[in-house]
Amino acid sequence: MTEQRESPGEPEVPAPRGGRVTLREDVRAAWLDAGLGVLVTAGVFALLYARIRSGASDTVSVMPFMKDAGTFWMYFLSQAFGWSALLWAWGTVILGLLLSGPGVRRTPRSQRALERLHRTTSLSTIALITAHALLFAAELVRDKAELGWASRFWEAFWETFVPGGYTSGTGQIAIPVGQAALYLAVPLGLLFYVRHRIGPRTWRVLHRFVIAVYVLSVWHTLLYGTNVWYDGWPRTTLWLLQLPIAALFLLRLARPLRRTEQLTLPAPHRRGPRRLAGWSVRWGLTVAVAATAAVLCAVVLTGHDGGRERPAAEPTATP
Ligand code: HEM
Repeated sequence: MTEQRESPGEPEVPAPRGGRVTLREDVRAAWLDAGLGVLVTAGVFALLYARIRSGASDTVSVMPFMKDAGTFWMYFLSQAFGWSALLWAWGTVILGLLLSGPGVRRTPRSQRALERLHRTTSLSTIALITAHALLFAAELVRDKAELGWASRFWEAFWETFVPGGYTSGTGQIAIPVGQAALYLAVPLGLLFYVRHRIGPRTWRVLHRFVIAVYVLSVWHTLLYGTNVWYDGWPRTTLWLLQLPIAALFLLRLARPLRRTEQLTLPAPHRRGPRRLAGWSVRWGLTVAVAATAAVLCAVVLTGHDGGRERPAAEPTATP
């Protein structure tokens, strides 16, 4: 069976031998990069843990009560999963933009390999985000020792997974932003496996919104990550890493794989209201992404990364 691509002018990409790709196959194929994700998480955890022990951690500077690394290990492991999740999200967005933009010249075989890597890294990203959130919930369960078990689990679930359930400080915004990223990532990522039911066109339109998941993830991290809390190179690097995404996004808009998505005005006999609306949206997006790229350059060049000012002395109380 060959994959049905309905837009004219698209290269025909043969489906994998054996027919339609299933979620089960991709989950099996994702073990390798999910395993790599766990290894990266372990490395980040070791680094964060060592920094807590040495007193160099910014997390402890923000929350001095966390200096006992042994007690709060689940919190630090949650942070580590957050970083690997963000890295995997970054990678899979890059792959997606390469696939839908001009990319490099590809053979059908390398195209299939790239598509498969995009799908497996997306599945790994969902797993890593879930682990990040679950470990945060586990830390809350541990922390609420004064309550009975049922209340501990209920409150941890409420604060972690229900928008508005977490009511402390910046978390009132940052946690719902993270939740929105997780709750959008799951359907937008998994709809691919039911696209034969909803129709490839509907799937493609919905899948485009997946970029919002990435934007929300970065926003959540900049708002709430205590390791990028203060201004300085870790936070500036996080901004810098968004430049390749913005550049590829611009390239994807300027030179899309599908002829029907070009920025040039459709030919007069094709200028129906739907085509014109699509064309205006593409131009609006192009201007917005170009403006974002300019802001990213300004942040990186000036070092004004929106971080808090580092306190001169170690704080004595929890901010
Ligand atoms: C239910 C959804 C989520 C919850 C409850 C949650 C919770 C948290 C919390 C409490 C923090 C603060 C940790 C700190 O002190 O630094 C945090 C930071 C972070 N989160 Fe999330 N998050 C969610 C979704 C996401 C998503 C979707 C991503 C990215 C794909 C992500 C990536 C990160 C990163 C990279 C950090 C910074 C960790 C650090 O500073 O070391 N989170 N998250």
